Amino acid sequence: MVKKAKSFVPVVAVLNMKGGVGKTTICSNVSLSVFENKEVGTLLIDLDPQFNLTQGLLKRADYDKYKAASKTIFSAMEPRSEVGLFDVATSTQPPPKSEDLRHSFFYLTDMPSKEFDIIPGDFQLVKYSLMDDNAKLKGVKDRFLKFLRQCKSSYDTIFIDCNPSSSFLTLCALHAATHILVPVRPDRFSILGLEILSEFIDQLPTLSPKPQLLILLNGVSRGGRDAVAASVEAELRAHPRFGPRTLKALMPQSEAFRARTDYTGFAIDRKGRWQKQIGAELTAIANELAGKLGL
Ligand SMILES: Nc1ncnc2c1ncn2[C@@H]1O[C@H](COP(=O)(O)OP(=O)(O)OP(=O)(O)O)[C@@H](O)[C@H]1O
Ligand SMILES: [Mg+2]
Repeated sequence: MVKKAKSFVPVVAVLNMKGGVGKTTICSNVSLSVFENKEVGTLLIDLDPQFNLTQGLLKRADYDKYKAASKTIFSAMEPRSEVGLFDVATSTQPPPKSEDLRHSFFYLTDMPSKEFDIIPGDFQLVKYSLMDDNAKLKGVKDRFLKFLRQCKSSYDTIFIDCNPSSSFLTLCALHAATHILVPVRPDRFSILGLEILSEFIDQLPTLSPKPQLLILLNGVSRGGRDAVAASVEAELRAHPRFGPRTLKALMPQSEAFRARTDYTGFAIDRKGRWQKQIGAELTAIANELAGKLGL
């Protein structure tokens, strides 16, 4: 692994408290396009207990091996132990390094010095939504943030796939992030959701400096917007706070992005007539996003 000398490493939390808006789809496909177009070492972190990002990208047999060896994000939160569901393990030992946990997508690249890796997710993270011992949880968050700081020395950028709804894990992602990428479906309540998220970030007392909000419209029909989608997009782009934060590039509604139980991998690698078109569309998003991230 090539160590970096660069000082600023953008950490992008793909976040929206709303479920099903395309966080996971965007996290995998947009980050891959950033990696390929900008040739930047890229790490994905699956911080959703449902671990859909991992399930979409890793074959079951591979995941089972990582899980059996404790090579998942859970090891960045707690050392291996026998503690129960309502307790957390602590240790004076430092957290693992990214190379101890990562899965590398070697096949994707002919850039030997740049890596595209994922820290696999883990359903065990669900325990943090059952706990209310803040002192214990603080230890978990501190360990995760330490892990993340170490990752920054090995990659040019990091993308974190977050769970929907607000939780302890959302706080971990917010404290790690330099940018929040919010996927927004062009429907009637999306701007309300953005206002709540933005207020939450503004008012979170422990969050300093505040991560920058970036908005990506997802699921936009290529064949012309319906009336609701067109008016929501117009309202968003004219919004004094959110308009300037909304990417001009759009994530289209496409069969290529639809999750399928019989397919593991990135949309761009799926055989289909859409390949060239989504390649160009993802490149447009990646270039605009990379510009905002300073990559
Ligand atoms: N642009 C798109 N075109 C077609 N299908 C899409 C698109 N974006 C997302 N989907 C589909 O919508 C569903 C939800 O997407 P995804 O899992 O990415 O959302 P999410 O925000 O991560 O959901 P959750 O809140 O459950 O984590 C999936 O079946 C996905 O394949
Ligand atoms: Mg998801």
